[in-house]
Amino acid sequence: MNIWIVSTVCLIFTLSSVSAKNNKCNFPPDLWCSSEEIAASCQVTQQCSETSWLLKEKTGPVNFTLYYESLCPDCQQFIRFMLYPTYQKISSIMNLTLVPYGNARESRESSGRYKYDCQHGPQECVGNLIDTCSIYYLKIVEKYFPYIHCMEISQSDPLQAAKQCAQQFTVPLDKILSCANSSLGNSLEHEMAKKTDSLRPQHQYVPWVTLNGVHNEKIQNEAQNNLVKLICKTYQGAKKPEACNEFKVKKTNRCYK
Ligand SMILES: *[C@@H]1O[C@H](CO)[C@@H](O)[C@H](O)[C@H]1NC(C)=O
Ligand SMILES: *[C@@H]1O[C@H](CO)[C@@H](O)[C@H](O)[C@H]1NC(C)=O
Ligand SMILES: *[C@@H]1O[C@H](CO)[C@@H](O)[C@H](O)[C@H]1NC(C)=O
Repeated sequence: MNIWIVSTVCLIFTLSSVSAKNNKCNFPPDLWCSSEEIAASCQVTQQCSETSWLLKEKTGPVNFTLYYESLCPDCQQFIRFMLYPTYQKISSIMNLTLVPYGNARESRESSGRYKYDCQHGPQECVGNLIDTCSIYYLKIVEKYFPYIHCMEISQSDPLQAAKQCAQQFTVPLDKILSCANSSLGNSLEHEMAKKTDSLRPQHQYVPWVTLNGVHNEKIQNEAQNNLVKLICKTYQGAKKPEACNEFKVKKTNRCYK
């Protein structure tokens, strides 16, 4: 850090501790960043967001997003053999987001609705809509991912899969199906299209993943080869779940001098 910044920061801290006496900053310095209100009353909001708040952000769960389409065989394989087993082991350190749209295309009709063309035909569009509406109604990933996983590994067409899997999981099937066939589903799917089309770099294939918002070939390959390892390695929090231990370097099998 250069001298100018250091002295500016010191000056700000000095000024704020002086003015803090006049305002209501009745807190010892180690509590200044403990909440946004306290930070504001002690006039250290900027310092906190550059230091301890940033650290807290980085030690949160790893953001992992899957961009996929419902009938793509490689997406089904990835969900079945990699993403779902990984999620079952280390969901506590993962913030998983699913974006069902993939290589589909949308165009706006004169009615204002969107028309979707899907890579694997109209059935895939039905599947994407059912997934999108399941996410909308079930709200939390712990609820919708098991249901979507069930549909993705089913050999039936999307509508049948939705019905069959609804027998295994508590889901509002009627709402999900009517959403999938209504302007609500149509506009929710448009949000998925926007999320997909705003990716930078643009997606080239599916499954397409981002790790803390970043996509590159290394991340993609590691995600497809060993997702538990990738997430464990990326997680910055202090307590890693048990399943991460197999990737710890074992110090026992070495002859130290
Ligand atoms: C995850 O994404 C959220 C929202 O964009 C962000 O605030 C948070 O810092 C991200 N977490 C990590 C570990 O990057
Ligand atoms: C989880 O990801 C979503 C975006 O997909 C984001 O809005 C949210 O802030 C993230 N949560 C955490 C705890 O990082
Ligand atoms: C959507 O509605 C049309 C006719 O209104 C019907 O033929 C079709 O089976 C419905 N699809 C679903 C997924 O319910």
